[in-house]
Amino acid sequence: MANKQFDVVVIGGGPGGYIAAIRAAQLGFSTACVDEWKNKDGKPAPGGTCTNIGCIPSKALLQSSENYEHAGKHFADHGIAVSGLSIDIEKMIARKDAVVKQNNDGILYLFKKNKVSFFHGRGSFAKGGADGYEIKVSGTSEETLTGKDVIVATGSNPRALPGVNFDETNILSNDGALRIPAVPKKLALIGSGVIGLEMGSVWRRVGAEVTVLEALPTFLGAVDEQIAKEARKAFDKQGLKIELGVQVGEVKNRGDKGVSVAYTDAKGEARKLDVDKVIVSIGRVPNTIGLNPEAVGLKLDERGAIVVDDQCRTNLPNVWAVGDVVRGPMLAHKAEEEGVAVAERIAGQHGHVNFNTIPWVIYTSPEIAWVGRTEQQLKADGVAYKAGTFPFMANGRARALGDTTGMVKVLADAQTDEILGVHIVGPMASELISEAVVAMEFRASSEDIARICHAHPSLSEATKEAALAVDKRTLNF
Ligand code: NAI
Repeated sequence: MANKQFDVVVIGGGPGGYIAAIRAAQLGFSTACVDEWKNKDGKPAPGGTCTNIGCIPSKALLQSSENYEHAGKHFADHGIAVSGLSIDIEKMIARKDAVVKQNNDGILYLFKKNKVSFFHGRGSFAKGGADGYEIKVSGTSEETLTGKDVIVATGSNPRALPGVNFDETNILSNDGALRIPAVPKKLALIGSGVIGLEMGSVWRRVGAEVTVLEALPTFLGAVDEQIAKEARKAFDKQGLKIELGVQVGEVKNRGDKGVSVAYTDAKGEARKLDVDKVIVSIGRVPNTIGLNPEAVGLKLDERGAIVVDDQCRTNLPNVWAVGDVVRGPMLAHKAEEEGVAVAERIAGQHGHVNFNTIPWVIYTSPEIAWVGRTEQQLKADGVAYKAGTFPFMANGRARALGDTTGMVKVLADAQTDEILGVHIVGPMASELISEAVVAMEFRASSEDIARICHAHPSLSEATKEAALAVDKRTLNF
């Protein structure tokens, strides 16, 4: 079989890979993207973890479960009476699957539009040569491709607890957590990170009794302390049980009888939790399964991540790696930025990713979002700063929405007033954070935000007011 020659071969069709392929094609390179993800019918399902079992489906379920909670608990405040309220979990899951499929199909359409050649199968390194690297595709497509440049974007897999396998029936990863067929009466989550809190929220809202077991003594240690405290208050009120400082011991999968989790609590006492299902969300590990890096001598580190420099160059000339399979936060938008930057570097341009302005979002209710440094980081770094906060309680739009939990917090340099971090817990934090990212990209001062006209009434006025608060001159609080 003749090799198919490409300028750029991208291995992996998640947000890092598919975006890199589109950008490479836009820049005039003949580009291939290899991805093995299949949907239930065995058809290509590009988009990676994000599209298939991550960002997109979790947001679909978060929306459904939030609607249900609103109908049951908050519609009455608006004078809307609801009787006979029920939720059809099968339909909720089917809707989520339909949203995923729209995104899969959207990516296939974008490949066609941009003339990216798509190959459905697993891509692995076969050998390097004078013309570039040979990539073997095995799956629906059986081909050998040659790429002058190769971009590896193979993503990550859930980290399992030692000795506790995911069966996706009782012991669930993010995958199984998104397709539980009926509401479990009792659900345990191990790890109170991003996945734990989002999935815990979904299943609590539709009726599960949820307990989150977290090893660390602090709640959301990476989040600004004041914001994490505010979020914790809201989660406690909602009935999400969070136990910190625990040490998880034996996790016994008892089949039809559920799961028994032995653990030591923060006081050192031995405890046991019997639940129907457990979601293990203790982080993710880089994925190079089947990539065959040894064939070309591609270097991995001790965690299994592909070693790259700050420009995403690997130890091999013309081989690049982006996203979850390399260092840095495992976030879809970080992978996308790296993918674009790499395609531009291949074209001899100056692709750029600013790691200091990558926003974080946790899609709970209230949402949590931030960019830049936290107050505790600024203290640790010995930076003199000023802080301004503004509560949504004092924001007219938030009152009208009926969602006044939380605040916006702006941290600015004490001397120059440059914004060093913005932290939000509250309604639509995921959308509000963009203004802060733009401001920080342009190295704005808090005074800049304070002087910009914000639409009234809008939640974004809370950001303006928090910026005013840095100079102790809020107008509405
Ligand atoms: P995570 O790193 O966010 O949280 C893992 C948590 O588990 C930590 O709090 C850690 O202390 C705890 N932990 C670790 N070992 C433990 C043990 N043996 N017992 C109890 N607790 C333990 O990881 P998570 O939630 O699994 O998410 C994985 C990745 O996916 C994250 O890097 C995140 O960036 C990404 N993600 C992003 C989302 C978003 O941007 N909204 C949504 C979901 C995932």
